[in-house]
Formats: sequence, structure tokens, C-alpha cells
Amino acid sequence: MRRVGAAGAVVMVLVSAGCTGDGDPAPAPSVSVAPPSFAPGAGGAGDPYFPTYGNGGYDVGGYDLKLTYAPASGRLAGTATITATATQDLSAFNLDLAHLVASKVTVDGQAATSTADGDELVVTPAAGIVKGRAFTVVVDYGGKPQALDNETLGVGGWLRTEDGAFALGQPESASTWFPVNDHPSDKATFALSMTVPDGLEVLSNGVPGERVTDAGKTTWRWAESKPLASYLAFVAIGQYRVRTGTHDGKPMIIAVPDSLPADGPAAKSLERTGEVQDFLVTQFGPYPFDSSGGVVLDDDRVSYALETQSRPVYGSTFFIGPPNVTVVAHELAHQWYGDSVALARWQDIWLNEGFATYAEWLWQEHEGDRTAQQSFDRVYSGFNWSVPTGDPGPQRLFGDAVYQRGAMTVHALRRTIGDPAFFALLKSWPAEHRDGNVRTEDFVAAAERAAGKDLGDFFEAWLFGTEKPPLP
Ligand code: TRP
Ligand code: ZN
Repeated sequence: MRRVGAAGAVVMVLVSAGCTGDGDPAPAPSVSVAPPSFAPGAGGAGDPYFPTYGNGGYDVGGYDLKLTYAPASGRLAGTATITATATQDLSAFNLDLAHLVASKVTVDGQAATSTADGDELVVTPAAGIVKGRAFTVVVDYGGKPQALDNETLGVGGWLRTEDGAFALGQPESASTWFPVNDHPSDKATFALSMTVPDGLEVLSNGVPGERVTDAGKTTWRWAESKPLASYLAFVAIGQYRVRTGTHDGKPMIIAVPDSLPADGPAAKSLERTGEVQDFLVTQFGPYPFDSSGGVVLDDDRVSYALETQSRPVYGSTFFIGPPNVTVVAHELAHQWYGDSVALARWQDIWLNEGFATYAEWLWQEHEGDRTAQQSFDRVYSGFNWSVPTGDPGPQRLFGDAVYQRGAMTVHALRRTIGDPAFFALLKSWPAEHRDGNVRTEDFVAAAERAAGKDLGDFFEAWLFGTEKPPLP
């Protein structure tokens, strides 16, 4: 939608240089910058798999949410303060916001027009925003959040429980509880203040802040200072046993719901978080965040675990039998591979899941269970190679081609370039792309540098072929 008016007005920007104010009349070379041509930011971030996810025209630096949740009514309300930088001359821009209603929007303190268009909030500031300018959007909003139901990829977003709620999901979930540029390519810091009735706990990403109780309500604060991809933000509100400690001098918070036994398999598995983290540091290099831990959800609707930044969330179904530390190794591996180093587009998800699955193999070997080679052998024979790992299609983001063939690709790479180059690469990749976004071709280039040779044919066969690749 193109609007003419204040936001579309042409503004001349003249930058004059050479006028030093010392009275010397230097010939004034006045530099004339092209006038801004204001246009609305795109309604999607341009992901080939999910073209409507996220938005264009700006880059978020941080989200700061001040919210109140009323479990009795299911109502969520509050204010989102979003700092961003324009990446084009903007007359208007979109935020993703599903089912919730914005009551007031300001841009740099000035009232802005906002209209809901499906799951998009279209914001038109009083004046255009020139490319490169930092701006602050404040959105007052509220309503009863609803989950997003994706037929093939499962539910994502806000789910109400008997006494609370939680929100998480991949590849999208954030737009069900705050206005957001909901695509991993736009990473931002994340701070949450959540007010709930006394007696409930609130868990989220990052470092806990001061907790304030007033008039029957408690406000919990959490802050993640390293930029996160929006699907890695989470909140859980309910009755939890929260264990707050430190690991390596950083806060480590582990929460298990009251409904599960204090010394059951869930608690016993998460207890080993620090130990698993220490092992992964030996494989991947320094832990990338300021805090760590994990949260267990006891809810039938959560049949998965998710690598929510700094503090993964685990569905209780992982902990029905004996302790399951393998899933902890998987989610913690994502803190390096997936979170700190995040995707630029969903197609490259093997960069997350292939490495997290390979970390399971490494952990199992470390534990004296089967070796990585044995894990490889078990999947290699009898595998169906018809789906290419490097382009699995949006319906198969979480399929075997991504997880198992992804991990086999990692192991095959190890066999091809040798252990010294491989393990050096496992550490240099997270170091070089810390807090960044990557694509498969970046990894191929890094692997070729580590190996000192062309790996084009290797990756073509392992990532994009549809037939069994030869054993390296
Ligand atoms: N990425 C998650 C993991 O491997 C698993 C996952 C797949 C997931 N689909 C999901 C998590 C949907 C949440 C929602 O750890
Ligand atoms: Zn995973």
C-alpha cells in the first residue's frame, strides 16, 4: 500500500562540508545527497520457503516488553518498545502481530497510524524515516493470544494452560505474543517484564532481573543481551520449582513443573546441563551467552524440545523412561549452532539440526555409548536419500533428511577433511559468526578454507544429491 502525504513528502538533505567557522571563506563544496524516496517496507522478509514471515525496510535492535498476564481470563496486555534502524527510506512498515490488537502506536514519541491487516500491523509514522536512521516504536497492545496452527509443522505460539500459559514454537511463534519482525534474519536483544498473580513463576530467556511484588501481583524480569532470532524467545508462566545457580560464573536457571517429581527423570536429566555444556565447550569453543539452564513443560501439546536462547524448553515426553541427556546435548548444541550462529533463511536448517544431531553422537561417544562412526553406520545403511538436506522443502524442515542426513553430512565431512581440520572448523565457525546469520554457502566456504581444498563435489552429493553418496 502506498500512501501520499507527510510520510511521502520529498525532503532534500544537504550536507555542507568545508565550513569550519574560522572565518576563512573556503570554497564550499556542498554535497547534495539524493532526496529520500519514501516507500513502505515489504510485508515479508523474503524467505524463499516462507515469503510472508517477517518484514522488510528496517532492522530491529531490541525488543523491550512490559506485559501483564491474567490467567483467569487469558488476557495479555502491555507495551512493546522496539528500537530499529531503517534500511530504506520508509513511509510505512509492518510488524507481525497475530490476534492481538494494538491500541496505540508511536514512532519516536509521535502518534503513528496503525491498521491491522491479517497477522500484520501496518504502521505509518507521522513523517517518513530516512534510510539509516534509528527509531523507536512503542506499541500498546492486548487481547487473548491464540496459537498459530501449522498443519505440517505443528502448533506454535501462545498456549494457555490451567493456571498460566507458555509461548514457543518454530519456525514462528513470537507474533502470537508481541509485535515483531518474525524472521530469524533480524536478530535483536530481548527484555521481558511480565506481571502475574502471586504464586506463579515466570521463566524466559537470559538473565533474571529484580522481582517486585505489589498488591497480589509479582513482576518478573528477564533480559537476553545477545541478539536472538524471534522464534528463540519464550515465556512460561505456571507452577515451577526453579533452581537458580551459577555455572562458569553465569546464572544457570533450571525449572521443572510442580506436576513432575523433584527427583524424576526430567529433573535428573536437566541436572546435567552444566556438565553437557562443559563437554560442548571442548568441542565448539566458548559458551556464547550470559546465562544458561532449561525449562521442562508438562503439557501434551508439547511433543518437542526447542533451543530457546540460553534456556532450552523440553516437553516432558522426553523424560518418560530413564534420564535422557541426549536431548539436553542436542538443545545445548543449538546454543552455538542455531542460536548464536543463526539462519538467514529456513532452507539452510541442516546447519542447525545436522550439527545438533551430530552433537548427540559426540555426546554419546563421550559417555562411552556408541561411537559417532557407529551412529553414522546405523543411519547410512537403509537410508532414504530422496530428500536433499540442503533444500528439504518447507514441509520437511524437521525431517530425517535434515536431522539424520544432516548429521551424516557432518560426519562425512570429518572423514573427508580429517580430524584436525574438522575439529578446528567446529570451533572457528561459531567464533567467526557469533551473533550472526549464515547460509549454507558460508559453511561450504569455511569448510574449504579449513580443509585447504575444493569441496564442491562433496557438498553437492551430500547436501543436494538424491542418491546414496559414496562413503568417504
Ligand atoms: N528444533 C527443535 C529441535 O530440534 C525441534 C522442533 C521441530 C520443534 N519442530 C518444532 C520445536 C516445532 C518446536 C516447534 O530441538
Ligand atoms: Zn534441533
